[in-house]
Amino acid sequence: MDKNSILKAYGFYAPFYDLIFGSWVNHGRKKAVEKIDQTPGSRILEAGVGTGYSIPLYNRDVRVMGIDISPEMLKVARKRFPQDKYPQVEGFLEMDAQELDFPDNSFDAVMAMYVASVVPDPMKMMQEMSRVCVPGGTVLVLNHFASSKGFLCNIERFFSPFSKRLGFKPDFSLPHFLEMTTIEVEGILPVNLGGYWKLIQFRNGEANGDANARDETPIDPQPA
Ligand SMILES: C[S@@+](CC[C@H](N)C(=O)[O-])C[C@H]1O[C@@H](n2cnc3c(N)ncnc32)[C@H](O)[C@@H]1O
Repeated sequence: MDKNSILKAYGFYAPFYDLIFGSWVNHGRKKAVEKIDQTPGSRILEAGVGTGYSIPLYNRDVRVMGIDISPEMLKVARKRFPQDKYPQVEGFLEMDAQELDFPDNSFDAVMAMYVASVVPDPMKMMQEMSRVCVPGGTVLVLNHFASSKGFLCNIERFFSPFSKRLGFKPDFSLPHFLEMTTIEVEGILPVNLGGYWKLIQFRNGEANGDANARDETPIDPQPA
């Protein structure tokens, strides 16, 4: 995936994105939002917010900043979720998740839903998500990951050469993703249709990017 193919793919998807990737994968979004502490006034970042499908899932007294690289996806989000009707919306900004334009420790929780297999450099995105999250804050990644065997594995491999056109990598590997991520995993929860997607909860280190200082309490632990 590269920036141009992402812009092209999501520029194309934007008008009907919610029809093809809306309600049937909303269970995962709901589970992700349930995992974060929504103390009134909490500041939450959604990297790759897309059309803002998750916005109604947040309490109205938190502040959600949505960023996305696609102006067309953001246009839909701004139209559907205006701040006067959805007070939880702090804003929708055009920004690259791999190069966040926020100071360190800006957010209490940082999420990326269905984004990790889209960005060109998921490790850079994770580093940035960790940097802008407060120490001890929650970082959540919701994504599909490649099957190791069987029919789905063959399908994913078949579609792999078409990643740029599809707008995501069908054969995105969970072990590889976890290997390259420096934030410690608190738990992995299978979600959506038979658990094909995984919700990965990380606890941000005491110092940003520090994998050594974390709350070790597991939630729904699953072997990777
Ligand atoms: C599959 S959509 C997910 C949208 C939304 N999170 C959801 O739950 O439906 C992936 C989104 O990631 C965005 N994206 C891809 N690369 C990005 C990047 N480097 N920075 C920010 N957003 C990016 C795309 O524009 C698209 O809106």
